[in-house]
Amino acid sequence: MADNSGVTGMKPKRKPSAGEKLSAAALRDSEARLRAILETAVEGIITINERGIIESFNRASENIFGYTAAEVIGKNVSVLMATPHREQHDSYLHNYRETGHAKIIGIGRETVARKKDGTLFPMDLSVSEVKLSDRRLFTGFIRDITERKRLEKENLEISEREQRRIGQDLHDGLCQQLAGIEMLSQVLAKKLAPNAKAAAARAQDIAGAVRAAISQTRLLARGLSPVTLEAEGLMAALAELALNTEKMFHVRCEFICAETVKFPDHAAATHLFRIAQEAVSNAIKHGHAKKISIRLAAGAEQLQLSVQDNGSGFPEKKSHGQGMGLRIMQSRIGMVGGTLRIENLRGGGVTVSCTAPKNSGTAHGCKK
Ligand SMILES: Nc1ncnc2c1ncn2[C@@H]1O[C@H](COP(=O)(O)OP(=O)(O)OP(=O)(O)O)[C@@H](O)[C@H]1O
Ligand SMILES: [Mg+2]
Repeated sequence: MADNSGVTGMKPKRKPSAGEKLSAAALRDSEARLRAILETAVEGIITINERGIIESFNRASENIFGYTAAEVIGKNVSVLMATPHREQHDSYLHNYRETGHAKIIGIGRETVARKKDGTLFPMDLSVSEVKLSDRRLFTGFIRDITERKRLEKENLEISEREQRRIGQDLHDGLCQQLAGIEMLSQVLAKKLAPNAKAAAARAQDIAGAVRAAISQTRLLARGLSPVTLEAEGLMAALAELALNTEKMFHVRCEFICAETVKFPDHAAATHLFRIAQEAVSNAIKHGHAKKISIRLAAGAEQLQLSVQDNGSGFPEKKSHGQGMGLRIMQSRIGMVGGTLRIENLRGGGVTVSCTAPKNSGTAHGCKK
């Protein structure tokens, strides 16, 4: 029989069966459904391949980043990232391919991303891996959390301001009144001394008790408003933190700062101080550390602060319970536009290290 398929050497095209037609239609339906879900999702959803090249970019991503899908598809996902992830993302993917050790996949984290116009903004990022028959894809789910961060920042600033105000009121108001009472008690003691020795001694006791109350109030005031307004206030406050920790908890606590560090941004300095304070408190409370080192150093652009302890280290189990300390630390470092790392040391103990830009400002909405 003659071949009448029209193309020499090709098999005649077979008509799809009814079943095949149905499953092709079902496939088309499910693709359309998936596309609709992607396009209407409030979260930014981006898929990249193993080499970090963007393969899809939904509408919410376009709104968040200011790029159209056509502008970024085919580009490396690092264009959406801020330093240092921008420069290092290829090596993250490479490490994951080599070791299978995931740092973000299935975990999720807050990070900073970059819009088309260069604005940096905070985002919640979670990544999942999709294994296809011949390759794998990574899907990133992104939520812009600028507003949430702004509220957190406002909350912290309000409470910081309130604490400072109470600290100053205690120092300037209550301490002065107590000082007045102490003086009056001493005058009374002197008056009583010639004729009523026992009563004079009582008046001296009262003066002593008031003096103790003044010291306590001063300590309280300093705790509420720890960093003074001078450029070197952070250094002084950390040195005092080390000293007070030794006195109060009978542990060795050193403050290491090779050169004078000036950091005139009072609000940012207070955030950094509070991070160190929480790290020290955790080292004692949870790690039962016997030695703590607080280090402060400044480079040309950045400030480095770390608190290292020789305690037990983080427990194996990851859950950190109801505690607020670590979360507030994270939030504070976000406010100064810095980075925070908390890690168990090989020989035991924990290091909390952070960096902050010298001309701090906020991380949100600032151009880089
Ligand atoms: N230096 C440390 N050594 C050992 N474990 C630590 C250390 N720092 C934190 N942890 C662990 O992390 C958990 C969470 O710490 P976090 O500061 O968030 O909360 P907390 O100290 O329990 O409560 P809060 O800070 O609200 O008073 C702690 O319960 C502890 O298990
Ligand atoms: Mg704590």
